[in-house]
Order: sequence, then structure tokens, then C-alpha cells
Amino acid sequence: MGKEPTSPPPWLKPDDHIVLDGVTKSFGNTEVLKRLDIRFKRHETAVIIGGSGAGKTTLLRLLIGLDTPTSGHLWVDGEDITRLGEVAMNRVRQKFGMVFQYAALLDSLNVFENVAFPLREHRKQLTRRQLDDRVRGMLATLGIAGKEEHMPSELSGGQRKRVGLARALMLEPEVLVYDEPTSGLDPETSRMVDDLIEETRERFNVTNVVISHDMASCFRIAHRAYLLLEGRVVAEGTPHELAFGENASAREFIAKSGVAPERLRRLVDA
Ligand SMILES: Nc1ncnc2c1ncn2[C@@H]1O[C@H](COP(=O)(O)OP(=O)(O)O)[C@@H](O)[C@H]1O
Ligand SMILES: [Mg+2]
Repeated sequence: MGKEPTSPPPWLKPDDHIVLDGVTKSFGNTEVLKRLDIRFKRHETAVIIGGSGAGKTTLLRLLIGLDTPTSGHLWVDGEDITRLGEVAMNRVRQKFGMVFQYAALLDSLNVFENVAFPLREHRKQLTRRQLDDRVRGMLATLGIAGKEEHMPSELSGGQRKRVGLARALMLEPEVLVYDEPTSGLDPETSRMVDDLIEETRERFNVTNVVISHDMASCFRIAHRAYLLLEGRVVAEGTPHELAFGENASAREFIAKSGVAPERLRRLVDA
């Protein structure tokens, strides 16, 4: 396998944060992702929508470096990460913060220890005091100061999201990847999480990639939405372009979701 670095193609622009160039992923003889071409722009929120089995989780795993494409190229910050070795890949992985579905907190650890976890793993040079300051500072920034000693089971759905987000932000990622951030939440909490996703993007100057089933959330947060069907991106654009544009698959997908696009709009940028 060639390990020589590929030089960036001339069409790669400075605001192209993550670029998939003809990315295919197969398991055995089954092509699960089919020649995907996607350009995630710096500091924007991209939302990937699509039904169950479309390939969303597979795509997410490629993005955060948990798996590698079968063919094609994946560029992050102008660097071809497609065939990097393990050491270089670990460096790239730290550019990504992952916010898991249902927050995925460690139930046996309190809030402080959940958030401190990435620092204990990857920032061993920090003093106790520095670690303490970073964790408490982040919890305060996200509006959950005072919950340090609580156990995850004592938190509300919204608070758990904030703790999961605090943990994802500990290593100062450039990209936040959210897997189904609003699934299982009531509408009011979902709106709060949408606000949080966008406030966090502004405050920490990150790029957001969000995998979602929730069309209402997509309309509120997406600068650009991608409809994945059977491993292909069949439509992309603003949610309103997908809802009212030429692409019949996109119109149908949004109509089936039951949202009323004419009553939904993106949250205002700060
Ligand atoms: N490790 C794997 N081995 C074989 N097939 C897989 C593997 N991971 C996913 N698949 C298949 O790829 C397809 C897409 O899965 P997935 O990415 O989980 O879809 P989604 O997240 O959109 O529901 C499914 O048909 C699934 O069975
Ligand atoms: Mg999935």
C-alpha cells in the first residue's frame, strides 16, 4: 500500500475543511458508500439526513478515522488522510470531537470524571490544578457548573447532552461530529440542543457535522444538508432548497418527515 503523501489538488480551497473525493466503502462485496463527493466547509453546520441503513454511521466512522475508505480520497485540512499510518492517524483523530447519541456517558463516573476522561488519556502532562480548571471552566461555560459531583443518572436529558459536549470539547477539536443529537428528546429539549449546537460552533469556532433523523432540527441548524440514500448522496443544498427544489427524492423525503418547511428557518448566526 502506497504511503507517499498526495499533494492537494488545485480545486481544494482553504475553506474546504473536510473533503470526500470519490469515497467508496465496501464490506466484502457490498458497496455501502458509493463514490461520495462532499465538501464540508469550515465553520459551517452540515447535516447528513437519510433513512435507516443509508450509510450514515459508516460515513461518520470514516470521518473520525475509525475506519478507512475502500477507494477515493479523504482530505482533512488539506491533508490526505486516506492512507495514513496509525501514529499520524491518531494526530488527525484529535481534530475531531464526537458527541454520541444519548451522550454515552460512563454511568459509573461522576460528571467531573466523565469530562476529565479525555484529558487523563491524552493530556498526561497537565497538573491536577490545570485539569481541574479546564473541566470546571468548560462545565461553567456550558451552563452546568455545580454538577461536578453528580452521577449521570441524576441529570436531565439536556444536562446529559451538555456533559457529553463538554467532554467532546476537552481536547479542543476543530470539528464536532454529532450522532443523532436530538433523538429521544422532547421537542423543547431538542430546540435547546439545536441552540447549543450552534452556540458551540460560534463560541469554539468549530465545523459541525451532524447525522440526524430529525428534519425540524435540520432546518434549524444546517447551512447545508445532504440526503444519503442507499450509500449515495442524492441531493444537497440548504434544507429549503431540498424541500422546494427540483429533486423529487429530497422533496419526498422531507414531506414524509411531516415537518412544515415554510414554518422553519435556520437559527440566526450570532
Ligand atoms: N462492519 C460492517 N460489515 C458489514 N456490513 C456493514 C457494516 N457496517 C455497516 N454495514 C451495512 O452497511 C449499511 C449501512 O449501515 P449504516 O452505515 O449503519 O447505516 P445508517 O447509519 O444510515 O443506518 C447497512 O446495510 C449495514 O448492514
Ligand atoms: Mg446509524
